Order: sequence, then structure tokens, then C-alpha cells
Amino acid sequence: MVSTAGTQSGEQGWSSRSAFILAAVGAAVGLGNIWRFPTLAGESGGGAFVLVYIGFVVLLGLPLVLSEIMLGRAGGEDAIGSVENVARESGVSTRWKGLGALQITSGFLILSFYSVVAGWVINYVYLAGGDFLGAVMSGDVFAGAFAGETQDQITGRMGDLFADPTRLIILHAIFMAATIWIVASGVHDGIEKAATWLMPAFFVLLVIITIYGALTGNFGEAVAFLFTPDFSKLSPVVLNEALGQALFSLSLAAGGLLTYGAYVSKDVNLAPTAGMIAMADTTVAILAGLMIFPIVFAVGLDPAGGPALIFQTLPVAFNEMPAGALVGFVFFILIFFAALTSSISLLEGPTAWVIDKTGWARKKAAIVVGLVAFAIGVTCALGYNVWSEVRPLGFWNIFAETDILDTLDGFTGKIMLPLGALLVALFVGWRADANMVKAQTGLSDGMFLVWRFLVAWAAPIAVSLVLLFGLVPGLL
Ligand code: PHE
Repeated sequence: MVSTAGTQSGEQGWSSRSAFILAAVGAAVGLGNIWRFPTLAGESGGGAFVLVYIGFVVLLGLPLVLSEIMLGRAGGEDAIGSVENVARESGVSTRWKGLGALQITSGFLILSFYSVVAGWVINYVYLAGGDFLGAVMSGDVFAGAFAGETQDQITGRMGDLFADPTRLIILHAIFMAATIWIVASGVHDGIEKAATWLMPAFFVLLVIITIYGALTGNFGEAVAFLFTPDFSKLSPVVLNEALGQALFSLSLAAGGLLTYGAYVSKDVNLAPTAGMIAMADTTVAILAGLMIFPIVFAVGLDPAGGPALIFQTLPVAFNEMPAGALVGFVFFILIFFAALTSSISLLEGPTAWVIDKTGWARKKAAIVVGLVAFAIGVTCALGYNVWSEVRPLGFWNIFAETDILDTLDGFTGKIMLPLGALLVALFVGWRADANMVKAQTGLSDGMFLVWRFLVAWAAPIAVSLVLLFGLVPGLL
């Protein structure tokens, strides 16, 4: 079996176990936690969604994280090649590699809109940075951001941004260029360095801002909203949303973990690593909820406000907080980097495949893939203004109201990721050589049985039911 250090895509592998964990946590923690989780939790009524989400993370997400990293390491190539290798070694049809192709396609599509949203973050880096500079010049370093603006003006800034296609596209271009640049420099130099110090810094600031929000905002209402499950709000569509979010947030089914797994050395024990990734990712998502909803309720915003919600709440907090201009500036920078350590894993998947397939230099492959994703992202940006009437999948109930970005987000999250996860579960649970799988996971006999049950039975059944009831009625 081909394995680890020095894969075809020209990679040397991670320099240590902790470097891999940081990179994988960096890939997991991103806009999915800070932007997508609060948006969906708000739209889906809070507590019930959060509970189901956590259930999916523990029972499906965690076993699948282990499955994907394990597959990647065992296969030792890009997402498609790795699955093909493992299938061949296991004596089953190599057509299973299609699951790698599906995953890479999902990651590629996610990258295209992810970069647009990351562009909104850059917009706020710029705004808060300008405010901070102004504060320094006027001698008041502790000024808040957006000083002198009313709440409506602050929240209205998102609408101004959406109305400006040029600005949206330039910001999207900046983010995509940064992503391409890091991936072009390779795993070792680029991805690892970016993750090593930025993730811890991000976490510390997140905790500080959450505490501030808890002290000054409407914390009680936020906690009640996020943790009191109202089961009347549960529907197949919400279940589907929660499943998609669990997969999205853990970077599952989008080629990222399969690809990163190939760069992990043989002596790393994968099970605890998977646990740490899932734990860190979920903690950050919950913290982000606890950061944003006290402000939402304190200023009377609608929790179901949609994708703009976090960009309307955080600036309000930074407006009132002591030294808000500085804190806001730093925090948006850190969100930017959290997004970047995720987007590089999204671009790495298809890029590694192109390299393995064509033999192109890493740089060329990263640029070409990144540019195509950029072009798709441009349509998302235009969907907020010139093409605001466009409903790409309008014939389908669940997408009837959604603009281009939301449709791409919903289609990948609700359909493609669950399908990709289903295929991984079936392949690892039923087709891949069980002895090889067991050795790779490093699980004890007892734990292996539990894990195998979750992967072979629980995941396929749950995902199939969610897909069936979440999607089909919308088509009828
Ligand atoms: N998990 C990342 C986030 O939450 C997004 C992502 C999805 C990254 C799939 C890689 C693969 O922001």
C-alpha cells in the first residue's frame, strides 16, 4: 500500500502530529462555525437544531472524520487516487473512486462561494481597520468602531455591500488570491505555518468577545434560544440542514480530510486525533453562537436574519465595546485567517488531484483550479445585486426562495455532502478490507466494534432517511 510522506502531489507530509492536528483543526474551524452555524441555528429555531447538530457530530461526524483521515492515509494520494488504491488493495471495484470525485467536486463548489463570504469578512477588516486608524490619529485608542453611527446605519452596511458588485468581486478576488498563494507554496511551507499560530490566537479572542457579549448583551435569552429544544420546530428539512452543517463544519465529504490524511505519517494514532478535531470544531461553533445571539437579542435583530446576521451583530458589539475599533479590527483579521486555513483545504483537494492527474506543477494547478472557482463565485456575488432575481433551482420547493449563493450552499450542504458521507460510510463499513481498516484506525477491539457499527449501520441509515424525507417531498 502506498503511504504517507512524499505523495505524488509533491508533498512531504506534515512535520509532526501536532502540525497535522493544527492544520486539520484549521480546516475544520472557519466560516462554517462563525458564519454558517449561527445563521442556520437562527433560521431553524435554535435549540432543537443545536441538539440535533451535536447528535450528528458525535454519532456520525466523529466516526466519519476517523474514516476519512484513515482512508487518506491508507491510500496515500489525492482523494480519488486514495480511494482507488484502497479499493484495489481490498479486492473490490475501483469504481468506488467515484466517491473521491464527488467529494472533490463538492469541495470545489464550496470554495467558490466560501471565498465570496470571506470577502465580506475582509470588508469589515477594512472598515474596522479604518476606524482604528482614525481612533489612533485622534488620540483615543480605546474608541469603538463605527463611532457616531446609529444601529440601523451599522446593520445597514451589509446592504450597502451587497448592493455593490464591484466591491464584492474585488474582495472575493483578494481572498481567492490569498488561498491560491498558500496552496501554491505547498502543504509544509504554506498550510502548516498559517495554522500554527493563527488558530490559537483566534480562539483566545473568541473567548474574550464571548465573555464581553455575555456580560453586556442578553445572555439569558441567547442561552435559552440555543439550548432549550423546541421540538415542534424539528422537521425533515431542519434535520437535513443540521446533518449538512455537521458535515460542512467538520470538513467532511468535501475531499479535505481525505487529502490531508495522505500527508499524515504512519505512527500517528488517528482516533484521538479525530476526537480532538471534532471537539475543537464543536466548541468553536457553540462559542460563536454564544457570542452572537446575546447581541442579536440585545439589539432586537431577527435571529432568523440569514447569512448577513453575524456581520450585523458583531459590528454593533464593537461599536459599544471599549477599544471596540481595535478589538473588531483584530477579530475580523482572525476570522479572515480562520477562513483561509479552511479554504486552503478546499482548494488543496482538487489541486492535489489535478497534480496527480496531469503532472502539472503545484503552482499552475492551484492557479487554474482557483481561477475557475473564482469565476463561479462571481456569479454568487452578482446574485446579490444584478442577478438578485435569479433562482437557479427555483423549481424545487426547498430552493424556491434562494439566491445564487444560498442555492450553491444549500445544494452542496443538503445534498452533495450527505451523499459523499453516505458513500464513505458504505465503502469503509462494508467494502474496504476490515483488517487494514482496523490497523489504520488503531482502535481497541471494543471501540472498533462500536465505531464499525456507527460507520456501517448508523451513518448509512440515518443519512439515507434524512435525504429521503428532507429532499423528496420538496420535489413532489
Ligand atoms: N469546515 C470548514 C468550515 O467550517 C469548511 C470546509 C468544508 C473546509 C469542507 C474543508 C472542507 O469553515
